[in-house]
Amino acid sequence: MSISAEQTQSLLNAAQAAAENAYAPYSDFPVGAALLTASGALFTGVNVENASFGLTLCAERTALVKAVSEGHRDFQAIAVWASRRPHGSVTPCGACRQVLAEFLSPHTPVVMTDESNGQLRILTVTELLPEAFGPAVRP
Ligand code: THU
Repeated sequence: MSISAEQTQSLLNAAQAAAENAYAPYSDFPVGAALLTASGALFTGVNVENASFGLTLCAERTALVKAVSEGHRDFQAIAVWASRRPHGSVTPCGACRQVLAEFLSPHTPVVMTDESNGQLRILTVTELLPEAFGPAVRP
């Protein structure tokens, strides 16, 4: 399933808007994510940090857990946005890649901003996590 250029841009806009709600007092690095379900529903997420730093939830996982907990299992795309991009595009961390790969099929687009030109950058789940470990068939 592919989505239009307009849909990808609006997904990134939704991720940017969501980042307003990020709770990132320790890193000062607000992140927003927006996840589009197969049925067209939109779930956003933000990073939610904790004084015990390792308990931080990333924006991508927040969005995914919100959607799955509301009964969604099939997804078209996810976008991630951050206010600053110190190393180029903000790409999902390793833990998020594994968690995304549990639910998003390998060719699902992951939309990001491109630091070099401010435009969209899109990689697939399998490009971000090749040869992912996972169930042969989703349970
Ligand atoms: N973070 C995300 O929420 N998503 C990413 O893709 C990159 C990192 C958060 C985790 C932490 O709250 C802050 O950004 C700095 O690592």
